[in-house]
Amino acid sequence: MSWIFFRQALANWRATGAIAPSSAKLAHQMIRAAGVETAQCILELGPGTGPFTSQISSAMPAGARYLGLEMNPAFVATLRARFPSLRFETAPAQEFDYAEFLGPEGSFDVIVSGLPWTAFPETLQVAILDQVMPLLRKGGVLVTFAYSGFHLLPNGRRFRSLLRERCSRLETSNTVWPNLPPAFVYSAVK
Ligand SMILES: C[S@@+](CC[C@H](N)C(=O)[O-])C[C@H]1O[C@@H](n2cnc3c(N)ncnc32)[C@H](O)[C@@H]1O
Repeated sequence: MSWIFFRQALANWRATGAIAPSSAKLAHQMIRAAGVETAQCILELGPGTGPFTSQISSAMPAGARYLGLEMNPAFVATLRARFPSLRFETAPAQEFDYAEFLGPEGSFDVIVSGLPWTAFPETLQVAILDQVMPLLRKGGVLVTFAYSGFHLLPNGRRFRSLLRERCSRLETSNTVWPNLPPAFVYSAVK
């Protein structure tokens, strides 16, 4: 998985925004913060090669619905082969027709984001947050991660304040050191 990821990162640096897939330790922290084990409807943004997906698929209740949106077709091919029972779409998160998956009244219980927010300009941060936050049920949680230190860069600080404006509570985890680079988890409760 690391080799596919590294090749795609070289070819699509801006969209990939990382040099290696997230570690199992970071994935564990993300999935625990999300409370996937009680979720009935789960959205994953930017699953890449699937380090979070792997733990989501083990933890999610039988019968829960899952949608993974990944804009890199090479990653989507890998994900479909690895997780044949989950639904993946090759689509940018800011453009997907969510009503087609949720129906007119539906909502997500949990959103797990692996998107490289700090690499995104403000317009894209806003476009994605404004697409998905209204689809999160009240009390639902969006979890995402930031590389320690990078969150202090202007794009990282802006992302944090955009997220804070769109949720009722924003929590941060301790640093997960066994990750390249070390990272922490944001849990944004709506
Ligand atoms: C930092 S990588 C994280 C991959 C994986 N979640 C992990 O933690 O190893 C970011 C992923 O988001 C995807 N991505 C970037 N922009 C996207 C967008 N607008 N919509 C959907 N996926 C996107 C990239 O193709 C890449 O797979």
